[in-house]
Amino acid sequence: MKVLLINGSPRQKGCTFTGLSIIKDQLAQNGIDSEIYQVGNKPVAGCIACLGCRKTGKCVFNDDLVNTVAEAMKEADGIILGSAVHFASATGAATSFFDRLFYSIDKTALKLKFGACIVSCRRGGATATFDQLNKYFTICQMPVVSSSYWNQIHGYTPEDVYKDEEGVRTLKVLANNMAYLIKCKYAANIPLPDEPERVMTNFIR
Ligand SMILES: Cc1cc2nc3c(=O)[nH]c(=O)nc-3n(C[C@H](O)[C@H](O)[C@H](O)COP(=O)(O)O)c2cc1C
Repeated sequence: MKVLLINGSPRQKGCTFTGLSIIKDQLAQNGIDSEIYQVGNKPVAGCIACLGCRKTGKCVFNDDLVNTVAEAMKEADGIILGSAVHFASATGAATSFFDRLFYSIDKTALKLKFGACIVSCRRGGATATFDQLNKYFTICQMPVVSSSYWNQIHGYTPEDVYKDEEGVRTLKVLANNMAYLIKCKYAANIPLPDEPERVMTNFIR
């Protein structure tokens, strides 16, 4: 049982990383393995809508971890996205990375796997970013795991994050809930449901 965490902040060991690390530790206490990936602190290309991934199942850009993370996601039972809040949204790097990741990946690999996101801000824009990131899951048939509050932590430095005791508790509850649901899924061992044939209508006449 494994959870994959992706840090969408360019700050490698900043507040988002600290929040994801708190979750990682709590998952370990529940007997769940996890790994944190990092979008990196170099510019991340956005999706250029070339549709190359439709032919190969991979993003055409190979100079970052999108394709590596996509392969790892196929083996994971849960996915947790993290981002710092930049101008009341996910960071540019996170948006570019997650757009390409969720567009290029084979969606059947994600069906009914659990998803959650966490956001880190100094002061405001947390829930807008939370809403933004949850949409990656809800377009991929991934149930969103919730906690006792919206998954936000506040601060500018990792030390600040630990002072946000309610935020830390929220992340721990989230980790416990994700671990519980993953265990339920394994215990139930029910085949995935069928779905109607795919249709795509573009609202044009
Ligand atoms: C370009 C930029 C924009 C930011 N915009 C916001 C914002 O809209 N609201 C906010 O509360 N904090 C904002 N911040 C602060 C960070 O979101 C906050 O300190 C966060 O916890 C940093 O997480 P990190 O260390 O993982 O990058 C911004 C920081 C940067 C660099």
